[in-house]
Amino acid sequence: MKTSRMVAGLLLVLQIGIFSPALLADEQHTVLITGANRGIGLEFVRQYAERDWKVIATCRNPDAADTLNNLALEYDNIVIEQLDVIDHTGIDALAERYKGQPVDVLLNNAGLMRGPDRGQMVGTIDYEEFDRFYLINVQGPLKVSEAFYPNVKISEYKTMAALTTGKGDKGIPIPGFSLYKTSKAALDAWQKEIAIRWKRQGVRVVTLLPGRVLTHGEDPNTSMSHVSVDKSVAGMLQVLDNLTMEQSGQTFQWDGEFIE
Ligand SMILES: NC(=O)c1ccc[n+]([C@@H]2O[C@H](COP(=O)([O-])OP(=O)(O)OC[C@H]3O[C@@H](n4cnc5c(N)ncnc54)[C@H](OP(=O)(O)O)[C@@H]3O)[C@@H](O)[C@H]2O)c1
Repeated sequence: MKTSRMVAGLLLVLQIGIFSPALLADEQHTVLITGANRGIGLEFVRQYAERDWKVIATCRNPDAADTLNNLALEYDNIVIEQLDVIDHTGIDALAERYKGQPVDVLLNNAGLMRGPDRGQMVGTIDYEEFDRFYLINVQGPLKVSEAFYPNVKISEYKTMAALTTGKGDKGIPIPGFSLYKTSKAALDAWQKEIAIRWKRQGVRVVTLLPGRVLTHGEDPNTSMSHVSVDKSVAGMLQVLDNLTMEQSGQTFQWDGEFIE
């Protein structure tokens, strides 16, 4: 009698799918990437899609994002969303649409990267350009992190990452990159603030250094030591995979090297 009730119970459990090994094993994780239409962001999309994660690939102009659109035809786990990181209303609207949905890894990849130019040199600073760098490279990631914090908090991985530049004095010893370098230094400082603020909620915050990746058509034969985009991104994925709570607030290079 007892045994037949147990068997009936087991059958019911199997019928309604509770404890289904497939359900447990195939729990899909989600990554949200900014600046996903080209360069390093696009490669993050490719590698996370390949891992079968749900990829929310955001970019300023989805209609013109041909390579990303083609990738989304290849992988049905890619969702493309319009997002300009200086548009705070748009960021809030997107976060509202994803309300209640976990985001395991939030990847603040979008960035303004240019130079050298005179407008970035002390003595000739272009203050409109100054605002542009800080709006995109500092306020942008901060606002995206604030807006999607509730999604990250309810996820399994609870990870927020942002891409920074250079070692030591931000790696580029040329004055014509000052706005770029100092905006990334401010981003680094904000990453540490975010890590402290949300540590108790179990959110892991990391700043990643992709190395020198030739995303602007530079000639590999004449460019200083560089790393291929696929190798750099694969390395950063490993850093993200192995990130511990104790490392929250720290910076790591693509190859796992800890950066002081
Ligand atoms: N490549 C390197 O060697 C290197 C080294 C150190 C750090 N990094 C950092 O790594 C990140 C990616 O670099 P990358 O080489 O792939 O750069 P990239 O090729 O210049 O791509 C930059 C991406 O950011 C997007 N973006 C710019 N402004 C935006 C805005 N307001 N809203 C939304 N998206 C915006 C761009 O979109 P659009 O196509 O619409 O402009 C593009 O998708 C950047 O943060 C960069 O600073 C790169």
